[in-house]
Amino acid sequence: MFPWLLLVLSVCARPGTGLPARHMDSLVQILDALESPARGGSPGSVPALARALGVCSTPGCRAVLGEPPEPPPAPAALPPEQWQLLRELLRPEPAAPERGALLAPDGSTVALGPLLAGIEAGLRLGGGSEGPWDPLPALRPPLDPLLAVTVGEVLGTSFLLARGGHGAALGPGGCWDDVDDPQNYTLTGPPTPVPDAVANGAMDGVVLGARLAREPAPLAELLRGYYGTGNGSERGRPPSSYRRRDFGALAGPGKLEEELVAVLELLRVLPPTRGLLEGVGPGEVAAVARRAAGEFTRRYVECPAIVPRCMWGARPYRGTPSPLTLPLGSVFIHHTLEPGTPCRSFRACARAMRSMQSFHQDTRVWDDIGYSFVVGSDGYLYEGRGWHWVGAHTKGYNTRGFGVGYVGDFSAALPDSDALALVRDELLPCAVRAGRILGNYTLHGHRQLGRTDCPGNALFQEIQGWPGFQ
Ligand SMILES: *[C@@H]1O[C@H](CO)[C@@H](O)[C@H](O)[C@H]1NC(C)=O
Ligand SMILES: *[C@@H]1O[C@H](CO)[C@@H](O)[C@H](O)[C@H]1NC(C)=O
Ligand SMILES: *[C@@H]1O[C@H](CO)[C@@H](O)[C@H](O)[C@H]1NC(C)=O
Repeated sequence: MFPWLLLVLSVCARPGTGLPARHMDSLVQILDALESPARGGSPGSVPALARALGVCSTPGCRAVLGEPPEPPPAPAALPPEQWQLLRELLRPEPAAPERGALLAPDGSTVALGPLLAGIEAGLRLGGGSEGPWDPLPALRPPLDPLLAVTVGEVLGTSFLLARGGHGAALGPGGCWDDVDDPQNYTLTGPPTPVPDAVANGAMDGVVLGARLAREPAPLAELLRGYYGTGNGSERGRPPSSYRRRDFGALAGPGKLEEELVAVLELLRVLPPTRGLLEGVGPGEVAAVARRAAGEFTRRYVECPAIVPRCMWGARPYRGTPSPLTLPLGSVFIHHTLEPGTPCRSFRACARAMRSMQSFHQDTRVWDDIGYSFVVGSDGYLYEGRGWHWVGAHTKGYNTRGFGVGYVGDFSAALPDSDALALVRDELLPCAVRAGRILGNYTLHGHRQLGRTDCPGNALFQEIQGWPGFQ
């Protein structure tokens, strides 16, 4: 191509104009084309292309996966908008890693860098597929390449930089400008090297890398199956909504801690990162690794994901909310009755949230949706009034406890066992640990405190066996 034409094209292609949505479906379409011989692509070509475009550009990752190939010309298989989107997504942005993130059908946001690094590590560990692979080097100290390139280096570095106590080392989450046509993702607080999107991408990279190490597969097919497609299937939860559980099974806190020590000791001997560890002895490295593994596991494995208001399309609160004084002593369990069927996708649960909020604001003339939190059957909790504001769920008791509502009518049937466990085994213990409810909290069904059948006979029966029930 003529140099002047390149210049014109790059000037005309302003960011955010006319690019495909930053939705996982856009990536799956791109991978489909790149892997399809009928469209000029070639199977197995994606990992090398991703490396050339910037995946795994940090010193530790390059020590594990090797130096990247030269940047390639635009592949014949991709139209210019798809090629530009892919380049933008994979371009390394150390100060803003969330720019390389996509919205997945389950409503989670996933950074592609650690996801694709995990995929390459998995393929090479399995010796699989048609990549022109060099064998993975045997590093001193020995480390698990899959954990190193996904979560290890970024997590270890984040906690190393944050030691001394100023500032967080994990999070925050963020909001998309438009969940139907996502283009712009904005963090909801001060950035760290591990915003939630990077944590999600890293966990997915470990889960999918481990699967590819056992059995190689075309990547478009792998991601389509793992994330689901479109706005989520009404039929059931996609595997990505189990990422916390599946990652936790592969990398418990003990294993993660060992890995972090190994990664930090590797960074100590690599010239570009040597300075970071100057004056940091082995004892301090061990302490950083313990803290990092513990906090990551508590936040992303043991505690549930809560979909923030911005993601379900909440209207603003009307008037001025009243703050709660934490910790609270009680939790009240509800069912929503209307909607009467459980929601099983992000799209359906977000719609249920919006419809309950309009009912509560417009018909009941409350300030906001009544519940503190709402439980979907898609694997996620949804933020209602949240941890800090008085709700309108249990008349006379709204300042004393949180109101947690299950979407559906549970008079005769129970929520799925996953949805029960989400509150009983995850939300409640995490709320105690975080100081939001007392360790001796009491749990009640709504019907114990007002004239109502809520939370339905079946669910009321069930919660009588939960910790704290009185
Ligand atoms: C994305 O959002 C940021 C912050 O709100 C804004 O400055 C920027 O212009 C937006 N970019 C696009 C492409 O909309
Ligand atoms: C999600 O649903 C909206 C509204 O029906 C639609 O406009 C949008 O294209 C869908 N997104 C995807 C990725 O299918
Ligand atoms: C519950 O715990 C709090 C703080 O630990 C304590 O002040 C309170 O008395 C306890 N309540 C009961 C009923 O034991």
